[in-house]
Amino acid sequence: MNAKEPQLCWLTDPTVFAVNRLDAHSDHVCYRTPEEAAAGRSSLRQSLDGEWRFAWSKCPAARPADFWREGADLSAFGAIRVPGHIELQGYGEVQYTNTLYPWDGRAGLRPPQIDWDHAPVGSYVKEFTLEEGLRGQRVCISFQGVEQAFYLWCNGVFVGYAEDSFTPSEFELTPCLREGVNRICVEVHKRCSASWLEDQDFFRFSGIFRPVYLYAKPKVHLADLWLQAGLEPDNTTATLTPRIKLEGQTRGAAVHLRLTDGEGCALYDGPVTGDTLELQGVQPWSHATPTLYHAVLTLADAAGEVQEVVPYDIGFRRFEMIDGVMCLNGERIVFNGVNRHEWNAEKGRAIGPEDMYAAIEVFRRNHINAVRTCHYPDQSLWYDLCDQNGIYMMDEANLESHGSWQKLGAVEPSWNVPGSLPEWRGCVLDRARSMFERDKNHTAILIWSCGNESYAGEDIQAMSDYFHAQDPGRLVHYEGVFHNRAFDRISDMESRMYARPWEIRDYLESKPAKPFILCEYMHDMGNSLGGMESYIRLAEEYPQYQGGFIWDYMDQALWHTDACGRRALGYGGDFGERTTDYNFSGNGIVYADGAEKPAMQEVRYWYAAPAARAAQDARNAAAARAADEALAAQWQARPAQPLAVVEGDGNLGVKGRGFEVLFSYTEGGPVSLRVRGTEWLWRAPRPALWRACTDNDRGCGFAQRSAAWLAADALAKAPQPEILEKSEQQVALRYRFDLPAVPDAGVEVTYTVESRGALKVEAVYHGAPDVPELPCFGVRFQTADPVAATRWTGLSGETYPDRYKGAEFGCWEETPRIEPHLVPQDGGVHMGTRRAVLQQRDSGGRATAALELQSCGAPFAFSALPNTAQELEAAQHPEELPATGRTNVTVLGAVRGVGGIDSWGTDVEEAYRLDGARDYAVAFRLMLN
Ligand code: GAL
Repeated sequence: MNAKEPQLCWLTDPTVFAVNRLDAHSDHVCYRTPEEAAAGRSSLRQSLDGEWRFAWSKCPAARPADFWREGADLSAFGAIRVPGHIELQGYGEVQYTNTLYPWDGRAGLRPPQIDWDHAPVGSYVKEFTLEEGLRGQRVCISFQGVEQAFYLWCNGVFVGYAEDSFTPSEFELTPCLREGVNRICVEVHKRCSASWLEDQDFFRFSGIFRPVYLYAKPKVHLADLWLQAGLEPDNTTATLTPRIKLEGQTRGAAVHLRLTDGEGCALYDGPVTGDTLELQGVQPWSHATPTLYHAVLTLADAAGEVQEVVPYDIGFRRFEMIDGVMCLNGERIVFNGVNRHEWNAEKGRAIGPEDMYAAIEVFRRNHINAVRTCHYPDQSLWYDLCDQNGIYMMDEANLESHGSWQKLGAVEPSWNVPGSLPEWRGCVLDRARSMFERDKNHTAILIWSCGNESYAGEDIQAMSDYFHAQDPGRLVHYEGVFHNRAFDRISDMESRMYARPWEIRDYLESKPAKPFILCEYMHDMGNSLGGMESYIRLAEEYPQYQGGFIWDYMDQALWHTDACGRRALGYGGDFGERTTDYNFSGNGIVYADGAEKPAMQEVRYWYAAPAARAAQDARNAAAARAADEALAAQWQARPAQPLAVVEGDGNLGVKGRGFEVLFSYTEGGPVSLRVRGTEWLWRAPRPALWRACTDNDRGCGFAQRSAAWLAADALAKAPQPEILEKSEQQVALRYRFDLPAVPDAGVEVTYTVESRGALKVEAVYHGAPDVPELPCFGVRFQTADPVAATRWTGLSGETYPDRYKGAEFGCWEETPRIEPHLVPQDGGVHMGTRRAVLQQRDSGGRATAALELQSCGAPFAFSALPNTAQELEAAQHPEELPATGRTNVTVLGAVRGVGGIDSWGTDVEEAYRLDGARDYAVAFRLMLN
């Protein structure tokens, strides 16, 4: 709509979402000359990024309502950085909340209301002088992203109003501009009717968080362009229909197109007539070969003088549904995808190019071929990078109204927006249009997504109809129809989130009309991503299973100073905000600082081509065989030396060449293990019956169901040991542990000092009916001094029974550390280990002592961590973990998987759970010389 005077009531009127705003258009850049285009610097653009003057108010009534007037007193104004969030620059409140609206329990609101007393306002002022290249022409302003609603004035004149945080809003400034210094004033409102539509699970911010720039339109201007590219079934003949909108003095103006390949050879060099061009011998665009062609459009006025030069890179591809299967260039496509929010732990969603370059590198390294721009359109550079790197995109409109229809998990859509309400239709359609118009040229986009978790109704149907009507070359996605099948036709594909493998199988077996994708799966909260195999197998079995998008790319947490003055990654609740969902935004395959989580090797493996996976499996099997053979040969070659026994009153001592062991009669195990003069034991080893809960353990109630093991682990007690053998060849003792919290089950640990210079440890768990599932079973001990490095022969990285196939078998080294998950939890387990060496080092890094563990019989799993399970359990941030100067070594015969289907109810797959009724065992040797 158009208006001359601003109205505050627009904020709560869903029918008003854009006033005097210019039409959305493609994201091309206009250059004045070919030289500028080649250099990538346009004299027609002027950035307004940088420092702006700023005042923050708690609510509209408290705002400086007249700050936009000429001569307004701005002496009380401070400064703010643009682009940036208001809340990360010292104003207002940082709040993370998932589905519950931010005001839940504080204001009883229904759409489209806002709480006028708690609706922060940011008043921004920027002065500028037009640069040479913009003078004397029509000048517009582009806001690439402002959260959530804003009013704009220029030199005291009202210019316009806009909503939709994640697509550009542009206005013409020409009539208000003057020579010399100009002033624009922007009033940003954190709450408006659109707050009901932007209920994404993320930190709630406001402000001008994406770039702002002025741009000039020469006398004739290329306002919009769509290089509609197609590929014929032969995959070498392309079609190109350039659709162009000109503005200004269009009469007599002409557009010339030169399209070149990577070598600079022209495929077309001639006028744009509106006809479709047919091009021969093109290379199709795909993930494997993301071939782009370089288009340069040159716009000349009636006199033939060049006015604008517009470069754009495009690819040729054909995306279509063939017999219920999505195909790219005629072949079935499988999305090995990830959901990606824009995030930076310092800047929030105000990310820069470096963040995108870093992410694309991670994608490339780990065979990720697809991205969903959850749950809003991203900055334009990301689309360029996806075009260039062959990353298939699902471009998602900025729409989520989760809290309006789902309450604590239950579907209750009585006041759902937008639903089928006519007053919201224009607004959501506008979001679809703004995204489509901006992004339509990007080859990488295969699918338009209507938004996320907004239930379904006529309004979202209208979005889908719009995409279909505009764009025959792409498909339309919307998961929300799962909850409202009356609107099934909104989505071209069956899309679900966090469906379990067996549920998906049921769907695929039903001879469905639509192919299946998981718009979200593998919920990677904390230590997770177990069981990915079950999903990948579906893709191998069923052509209509076409992959999924891992949830999600990066942990969303923010660097801040904690209550103790430490620099720490803060998550929901750490900023004093309530309501919050705490660390529920920490689900990335990379941490908030961009470092890859240990689970990444699994992503890399399962997203690799099947042949590459098979080759890795074969390499691992051969290396493991060689390691087993070497170990057996070494053991056989060890000379035997007689043992000496010393019978004390409280201990049984055993001495051999270079070592001494003291078995305590009261402590449940050996209390001293001296190898070449170094004491290795802090206290006697104990059964390991608990692992610190992972986020998934907590989410599915495992921690509660199996809580008895927490007490059993802490309080297990063994009376005096049974001495089984006492000779020069071997000394053997057995400790039987009572488990007070699980009295029917029992544990025996048998120690055998062997004359070949080893202490063999064999632990057995005896299960009993009705005993809860175990988190793990093994033996753990604390070293008397810290272990500086652990070197092991076995699987790389961190592995669990449902997450180890991506590892490579070899010799690895690490420094004992706690994985920096937002909330500390179990980690650092290494499955399939043949030998592990614990090394102490001096300050110069030289090894001063080493203790070797070797497998006997079967490989073991182990972890060497600076903290105990109980310490991990008690901490809510890594900074809260105590420094004890000891290392906790846990050797496991069995450990529960980490799971990954979701983090709020679904258990680890059955094969990876430990049945309390069964027996489990572990055996290993500590090498003593
Ligand atoms: C989904 C939602 C995501 C995120 C995820 C849980 O329901 O679409 O935005 O909230 O659950 O982490």
